[in-house]
Amino acid sequence: MAKIKLKKFLYGGDYNPDQWSEDVWEQDIEFMKYYNVNAVSMPIFSWAQLQPSEDKFTFEWLDRIIDKLYSNGIHVILATPTASQPAWLSKKYPDVLPVDIHGRKRKHGARQNYCPNSPNFKNAARRIVEQMAKRYKDHPAIIMWHISNEYGPYCYCENCAKAFREWLKERYKTLDELNKRWNTAFWGHTFYDWDEIEVPSYLNEEYEYMPGRQKSSFQGLSLDYKRFMSDCLLNLYKMEVEIIKKYMPDVPVTTNLMGPFKPLDYHKWAQYMDVVSWDNYPSIKDSPHSIAFKHDLMRGLKRDQSFILMEQTPSQTNWQWYNSAKRPGMIRLLSYHAIAHGADSVLYFQWRQSVGSCEKFHSAMVPHAGHLNTRVSKELKQIGDELLRLDEILESVNKSDVALLFDWENWWALEESMGFRNDISYLEHIDSYYKALYKLKTNVDVVDPTEDLSRYKLVVAPLLYLLDSNTAKNIEEYVKNGGIFITTFLSGLVDENDRVILGGYPGWFRKLLGIWIEEIDALFPDMKNAIILEKPLGTLDGRYECDFICDVIHSEGAKVLAYYEQDYYKGMPAILENTYGSGKSVYIGTRPEQKVIEGLIKYYADMAGVKPILPVPEGVEVTKRTKDGKEYIFLLNFNNYDVCIELPQEFYELITQKLFGGRVVLRAKEVMILRK
Ligand code: GLA
Ligand code: ZN
Repeated sequence: MAKIKLKKFLYGGDYNPDQWSEDVWEQDIEFMKYYNVNAVSMPIFSWAQLQPSEDKFTFEWLDRIIDKLYSNGIHVILATPTASQPAWLSKKYPDVLPVDIHGRKRKHGARQNYCPNSPNFKNAARRIVEQMAKRYKDHPAIIMWHISNEYGPYCYCENCAKAFREWLKERYKTLDELNKRWNTAFWGHTFYDWDEIEVPSYLNEEYEYMPGRQKSSFQGLSLDYKRFMSDCLLNLYKMEVEIIKKYMPDVPVTTNLMGPFKPLDYHKWAQYMDVVSWDNYPSIKDSPHSIAFKHDLMRGLKRDQSFILMEQTPSQTNWQWYNSAKRPGMIRLLSYHAIAHGADSVLYFQWRQSVGSCEKFHSAMVPHAGHLNTRVSKELKQIGDELLRLDEILESVNKSDVALLFDWENWWALEESMGFRNDISYLEHIDSYYKALYKLKTNVDVVDPTEDLSRYKLVVAPLLYLLDSNTAKNIEEYVKNGGIFITTFLSGLVDENDRVILGGYPGWFRKLLGIWIEEIDALFPDMKNAIILEKPLGTLDGRYECDFICDVIHSEGAKVLAYYEQDYYKGMPAILENTYGSGKSVYIGTRPEQKVIEGLIKYYADMAGVKPILPVPEGVEVTKRTKDGKEYIFLLNFNNYDVCIELPQEFYELITQKLFGGRVVLRAKEVMILRK
């Protein structure tokens, strides 16, 4: 894996010098030096400025700014400009433009508005990337490649349909196999020729069931189309990487991901990235644990490696419904939050606030005022100064005893499948369980269910509806060898083609959990039931409400921990624990109150020997990074008030460069980075 040669915390952001006249560049450099900026990403959307017509390239302006930056000690994260093709390309080669899910041919404009299977788009992208790689291969300013930008929408055009059929042939070999896997006998969907397979769109299988909620009448097909589209966009990325690696094999490549972004299976993508990078845009209403989840999900794409925070905004965005300013202290706290979860950078979108178009009111490091005498700029200056003291934690990693399993294919299938409740949000349930793990005050890995799980003491997998037999085996082995596994309703039900595992729910997990689910009852939003504990369990005792879904469960060897209070399944088990091999598996057959989820996770974490990194008060986050036997403990106070923390020993604090021990005060929105 290629590594970033600059051994410094990267500080800077997206830079668009081509939106400004060159005399502004002088001030840019002066301001960058003031902030201690050492890296900028460019020229992300500048294809049109680099290639004004098919046979004309204009790299001179880019040469000038790269040289200028470098001679001032500022490095470049060189971006390929392919997220936004020039108008002449779309005009000359109409196949470049995509077709949307409604079957409408798109016109030129916006960005990320191209077909990933367009031969002309690929040719043109290859050409510009090759020109750039050749031109800058020996430039010492370049520390990383930023491929395109936030890969995104799917296409439904004829070129994509053709490529899809090839992809299917490769995957299933014969139509017989495909018909079987997709269960095409249903509604007479049997295919007799590959050409009969259409892409799933709003013209056939897909429909908007509720506003913003897409459903499919043909899961086998729809699920594969998502896999295929994720692969097509990944192929575009790989195509660019291949060219770059020919010229610059030692410079790491990445593309900026977007956290839990549904269309792309990032677990697959990360295999082709030297370093994971992502764009973090919380609103002021987002809770710290939900932001922490995204960092952990992104870090989990490449375990045991730090990541790059590629974008965040100094204050407000422009695209959220309400774009509040970040409150004093928050951009600094959020920057350290990213570092606490494994980031080796603090980078922003963007350097200079634009003068026009839709992002003109998106905040930036240089505001419209044109000077840095602002509340936000002062905070940015402080961060830039402080990062200089943190280089020793670069490339340190977050090791975890506990893991939350997260899977894109499962997400797709779970939400697009019809049945039980059609308003299921995977992320909502993931959030409840992540929050419970977060409250253990320890590092949490969010990983793919196919990962080697043997390193974990506790593994939690809410609503793991779809999985293949190997993944089911992976989890089974983990428990057999002594692990503790917690899962919930709607888990283990279908295979990788969304076909039900016959022989009784929960399919893959029936033996592991020692249960049989006879029925899955869905509750209306205004309906509730309750669970009653058999006996006290950690902090839990007595009766708690539950709702959403109630599984009607029979134990086949599992110990009943709680049973239902009402309805025709009154007295039947709701939560059970099974001993399997030398481990335990726990099944939660309904959605209990959040405090039950938290109580259960805490109970099993204690049983597994999971310890808090440090005992800290509510609202204070604690994480740990390690490197070369050294431990760095991060304490972040998200409260609006000061708290007292009892340190068990004396620590060196990296930001203040002082020693601390015993009882210390952590001020509101303050951070400590403690080294033993
Ligand atoms: C994304 C993009 C940027 C910019 C920001 C605005 O992350 O990558 O180009 O549009 O959003 O928040
Ligand atoms: Zn297409």
